[in-house]
Amino acid sequence: MQSRPLGSTGREVSEIGFGAWQIGADWGDVEEDAAMATLHAAADAGVTFFDTADVYGDGRSERLVGRLLREREGITVATKMGRRLDQTVENYSPEHFRAWNDRSRENLGVETLDLVQLHCPPTDLYYRPEVFEDLEAMVEEGRIAAYGVSVERVEEALKAIEYPNVATVQIIFNAFRQRPAELFFAEAARREVGIIVRVPLASGLLSGKYTRETAFAADDHRNYNRQGEAFDVGETFAGVPFEVGLDAVEELRALVPEGATLAQLALRWILMHDAVSTVIPGARSPEQALGNAEAAALPALDDDAMARIAAVYAERIAPHVRQRW
Ligand SMILES: NC(=O)c1ccc[n+]([C@@H]2O[C@H](COP(=O)([O-])OP(=O)(O)OC[C@H]3O[C@@H](n4cnc5c(N)ncnc54)[C@H](OP(=O)(O)O)[C@@H]3O)[C@@H](O)[C@H]2O)c1
Repeated sequence: MQSRPLGSTGREVSEIGFGAWQIGADWGDVEEDAAMATLHAAADAGVTFFDTADVYGDGRSERLVGRLLREREGITVATKMGRRLDQTVENYSPEHFRAWNDRSRENLGVETLDLVQLHCPPTDLYYRPEVFEDLEAMVEEGRIAAYGVSVERVEEALKAIEYPNVATVQIIFNAFRQRPAELFFAEAARREVGIIVRVPLASGLLSGKYTRETAFAADDHRNYNRQGEAFDVGETFAGVPFEVGLDAVEELRALVPEGATLAQLALRWILMHDAVSTVIPGARSPEQALGNAEAAALPALDDDAMARIAAVYAERIAPHVRQRW
């Protein structure tokens, strides 16, 4: 497993990380023992970066990652805050920040959080410099070592990195969401801002294992957020209509190298972009966590494969997503 610098945090993290939303809630049931086994499988495979949030299972995900922190060495944890109340600009206040921060520090069992990300705040928040000044104050208070943002839109990412100490941006980027690579990646690299890539498998679509008949559990957002009923529809299948995605995936199958999986191809495609610091696939089992970590060992994709993935995106996917995020 190779490491890459995590923006201006001074940390090096594994290029394949781990997304811990699945072990919190919203993806169907994952028992506690299975969750811990999944976290350890990732760590055993060389993963050193774990992404969570205070709202995943209302703190369950943070508490499980906190257990991992006590059981393993050399792990960097990024959490998020900002969704425990309505996402109005007023709620991103110094008092709320400190209350949320206290709770995350307790859940994770640490004095200082390695990295805290604003959890997809409203666009207007990026035009409130006082919020970023307050995050600076929290660094000085020793509550957080660094801060970043998790964004929905490319334009939010570009605005966020105008604040000089935003260390990282978390953004959706995958074979079905290619626009971040057009302008944002170069700007982030120029400013030494780390890029954390989420939803790398388009909520599992890019694993190629679903069919038109696949049914998701009632407590799985791939059932209840298909039209954006609960949160931004771009977080579910990267905003690609399910059946459009299924057809596009069929065209990618031929590119999978011998002995590899479609999910691994999808993750390796992301790692072809040097501006990316780490990719955080979510996993619900040790097998998934291990398979994802092993994507780092795949050889680089050749020009033909890269061109084919660009063409499938341009022809089938871009009309559905490119102008939305
Ligand atoms: N607003 C935000 O900041 C935000 C939003 C979304 C996600 N995130 C973060 O990003 C992480 C990743 O994104 P995501 O969870 O939305 O989507 P994702 O990583 O694109 O997809 C995860 C799903 O892919 C399937 N999968 C994973 N590994 C697999 C493998 N090796 N083989 C086959 N299938 C595999 C699993 O589906 P099955 O469950 O069907 O097995 C899994 O639940 C989250 O855990 C979270 O940490 C942050």
